Amino acid sequence: MLGLPARVAGFIPERCWPACYYGPVTAAAPVPVLSAHEITQRYGETTVLHGVSLDVARGEVVAVTGPSGSGKSTLLHLLGGLGQPSSGAIFWEGRRVDQLSIEARARLRVRALGLVFQHHYLLPDLSVLGNLLVPGLILGEDLTERAEALLTQVGLGGRGAAYPDVLSGGERQRLAVARALMARPAALLADEPTGSLDRANADRVARLMINLAREYGSGVLLVTHDETLAALADRQIHLLDGRTARPQTAQALTTAP
Ligand SMILES: Nc1ncnc2c1ncn2[C@@H]1O[C@H](COP(=O)(O)OP(=O)(O)O)[C@@H](O)[C@H]1O
Ligand SMILES: [Mg+2]
Repeated sequence: MLGLPARVAGFIPERCWPACYYGPVTAAAPVPVLSAHEITQRYGETTVLHGVSLDVARGEVVAVTGPSGSGKSTLLHLLGGLGQPSSGAIFWEGRRVDQLSIEARARLRVRALGLVFQHHYLLPDLSVLGNLLVPGLILGEDLTERAEALLTQVGLGGRGAAYPDVLSGGERQRLAVARALMARPAALLADEPTGSLDRANADRVARLMINLAREYGSGVLLVTHDETLAALADRQIHLLDGRTARPQTAQALTTAP
């Protein structure tokens, strides 16, 4: 019985194991907002991800770093339900989503995830405010008040009637962050969100994104090769050739040939 001493086991009815041994279970461990279990991705003969697993907890900021071509965008794409892994499983708030239809995933994604990419993907024919109201249209909710509050929070208060083409690169990316948070998603997925910005704007966008996500309690998975940005995260995961690199231990360093 799981290594439990026989003398003790005799006093514990099997059916209440392990609660009797460790004491009553009062609070279940919180379900991660995002999970990848042993994700493998193959394109023809090439394997791009080799059994990658990770969890992001609610309110936690996790940075995925690694050289170009290591599989960071592929991993984010799969976690966002934008493709299907060759094997493994993806969970959003504990619900397995990789086996759902594209339509079912898209419906869940609106509330579960906010996505931010290097390119802003704003709709050019809609105003700044109009861009923020799109998630509300999909959800059938009037989110005008939230949109106006978010505009102020991202430093675009009073610019709601402007069109994206008159905004600077930093302003567009701040608007993209605001849009990603409109539905108060459980998690924010960002792929090099500051990759096309100068240092000052990159820092402003990154800090804003992380602070707002923490305020809203969203978990964040941030793909970046920018060490300054990665250092803002609670935890870093390093990808190398499609595998999560193991941290080198002091023992491994001293015993290495
Ligand atoms: N659709 C695809 N078909 C074939 N190979 C791909 C595809 N998408 C990505 N790759 C390859 O997968 C590897 C990882 O790419 P990517 O995830 O974009 O890396 P990163 O974001 O870390 O730079 C690269 O070698 C890339 O060429
Ligand atoms: Mg990439």
